[in-house]
Amino acid sequence: MVLASAPGKCILFGEHAVVYGQPAVAVAIDARIRVKIEKSESGWQIDGMKFDKSRHPHLDAILKRMWTGDGGAPLSVQIESDLFGAAGLGSSAAICAATAAGILHIRGTPVDELPLRGIATTAHLAEAEAQGGRASPIDTSTSTLGGAVFVSDKRESLAEWKYTRDLRIDGVQRTWEIHSVSLPQSLQEASLVIGFTGRPGPTSQMVAKVADLLKRQPEKMEDIERIGNVTRAGATALSLGNLQAVGIAMNECHRLLQGIGVSDSDLDRMVEAALPTSLGAKMTGAGGGGCMIALTQEPRRTAEAIEMVGGHTMTSRLGAPGVDVKTSD
Ligand code: PMV
Repeated sequence: MVLASAPGKCILFGEHAVVYGQPAVAVAIDARIRVKIEKSESGWQIDGMKFDKSRHPHLDAILKRMWTGDGGAPLSVQIESDLFGAAGLGSSAAICAATAAGILHIRGTPVDELPLRGIATTAHLAEAEAQGGRASPIDTSTSTLGGAVFVSDKRESLAEWKYTRDLRIDGVQRTWEIHSVSLPQSLQEASLVIGFTGRPGPTSQMVAKVADLLKRQPEKMEDIERIGNVTRAGATALSLGNLQAVGIAMNECHRLLQGIGVSDSDLDRMVEAALPTSLGAKMTGAGGGGCMIALTQEPRRTAEAIEMVGGHTMTSRLGAPGVDVKTSD
C-alpha cells in the first residue's frame, strides 16, 4: 500500500493576469490531499465505491497516463482532504500530484528518487485534460514542489529556475518558466488566514468574464499589466522577507482585481474585516466566490474578524512541503 500526499495552494499575486502572459506567485499551504493506493481484489474502487470516471476526471486522467503496471490491474484509491472543496485552493492539482507520485512509487521508483519535474508535468497534463485542455501549471507545480512558486514567461533572477512547462491551449502554444522562491526566516513570523465564502469559485466562468471585459474595454489590459508589475514587486518582497511590502502588494492586487470585476461583495467584506489586523489581504484564485487570504501576525484575531462577517477560516504558514510518499504494509 502507498500513501501519497500533496499540499493545496493559495495564489499570492497574479491570478487572471497569468492567463495573459503575466507572472504569478503561489504558496503551498498546510492543508493537504492524502491519497491511499493499493491493489484491489474487487475491481476498480474509489473511496470504497465502484470507480466512476465521470465523477473523478482528474484521477482518471492520471491513471490512464501512468497505470499500466501489472497489466493495468485494478486499484483501490482513497482520497482524504483538509481543503475546502472547489474553493480555488488547488485540490484537483493536489490529487493529480499525489496520485502521480504514488503510482511512480508503486511502479518501483524509490521515494528519494521521485522526479519532481516529471510528477509536475504529468499532473499538469492530466489536470489540463480533465479541464477541457485549459490549465496553467501554477497549481500543479506548487503542489508538487511545495514552498513558494513563481511562474513567469521568462527566467527570473530572483528565484531558482526549476523547469519549463508548455501546453497548447486553444491552438496557442503557451510556455511557462517555473521557479522556486526560497522563503527567508522572517516570513515564518506571519501566517496566512484563508477565508472561504462557502461558495465555489467558478474558475472557467470568471476567466471567460475577464476575456469578455477585455474585448469590450481593451484599455483594461493596462490593469492586467499593472497586476504583472505588482506581482514582480511582490515576488521581490517575498524573496527578501519584507512582510510589509508583501502586504502592500497584496492590497494593490486586490484593488486591481476588483477593477476587472472578479471580486464580489462577500470577498470584499472579508478583506475589509481582515485589514485592521493584517499586513495585507486580497481575494485569491478565480474569485466570484471561493477564498480570500490575509497575511497577518495576529492569526487568531484576523480569523475571528473574517468569521464575524460569515467566512469559514483556516490558518497556514507561507509555504509547506510538496509531494510526499510513504509505503505501508
Ligand atoms: O481557481 P484557481 O485558484 O485555480 O485560480 C485560477 C487562477 C486563474 O488565474 C484565474 C486561472 C488560471 O488558469 O491561471
